[in-house]
Amino acid sequence: MTGFSNTAHLLKAEIHCHLEGAAPPSLTEAQAEKYNVDIRHILRDGAYVWSDFAEFLVCYDAVAALFRTAEDYALLTETYLLELAAVDTIYSEIIVSPDHGDRIGLGADAYIAGVCDGIHAAREKTGIEARIIVTGERHFGPDRVVSAAEYAARAKNPLVTGFNMAGEERMGRVADYVRAFDIARDAGLGLTVHAGEVCGAFSVADALDLVKPSRIGHGVRAIEDMALVERLVELGTVLEVCPGSNIALKVFPDFDSHPLRRLKAAGVRVCINSDDPPFFHTSLAREYEIASQDMNMADAEINAMTRTALEAAFVDEDTRAKLLARLDA
Ligand code: ADE
Ligand code: ZN
Repeated sequence: MTGFSNTAHLLKAEIHCHLEGAAPPSLTEAQAEKYNVDIRHILRDGAYVWSDFAEFLVCYDAVAALFRTAEDYALLTETYLLELAAVDTIYSEIIVSPDHGDRIGLGADAYIAGVCDGIHAAREKTGIEARIIVTGERHFGPDRVVSAAEYAARAKNPLVTGFNMAGEERMGRVADYVRAFDIARDAGLGLTVHAGEVCGAFSVADALDLVKPSRIGHGVRAIEDMALVERLVELGTVLEVCPGSNIALKVFPDFDSHPLRRLKAAGVRVCINSDDPPFFHTSLAREYEIASQDMNMADAEINAMTRTALEAAFVDEDTRAKLLARLDA
């Protein structure tokens, strides 16, 4: 890829980015200094240090532990949304984990309040629209995932519009976590779940059978089972695809073998996302560039994926109509 941008002129949207995973290394360094924490094992020469998925999760949790007050979370959220707005992003869904608020003794309410402050500040400055997806972390166990769902359900916060499950996909089966999704569904939250990233097509099938989400985080390993791909097409399930993340985590060896184009050609609804951008040496702007330059997609095809993200967004219909009108203008 060259330094020249083919996609700077395109409006952008993403519906899959983890808040702590978006922390710029410079901000993490400032937080470590603020709290006098030695972070040389997780951040070196301006880059996060990990070598496989399990180590990535450990690194992620260590970074999250450096954000300790509502103000820290407001700063992190605003910083990320301003970065998105600067590259013409009109909509962002941020995946947050109240577990992190609990683990550092801040509490989920203050954690979410900080995130909301950051969203309001960024919206005031740039007009960027954002919503919050509460996630359960699978590696903290089914009880914690249920607690996260219960928290999201009772939050009654207009910015909290979805529920997700992230974390170690190899821990347990989707069936162990179904109750959490039932709670979130009953509360009227949009549902999405990480599947088909570290585990194979079976995890996507489990998610469809047991959670019935409108979207799946990643889902790219559905490509291992063409009957499952056909099922995704029939259901209209949207895959939140994160190409740069998949290459960094070695889900696929390179962009040539990445299945985004094949899934799209088969008729699966797909969109592009950054996941945990600085951890994977990417950004939303770079993901758009990857689609253009590494995957040879034309502007119209990329705009269609942005449209899919907005169509699948967990927002009220009035906001969705306004966002789609901005994209079409
Ligand atoms: N948490 C943060 N990033 C994640 C990913 N790519 N997969 C699963 N859990 C995550
Ligand atoms: Zn993710």
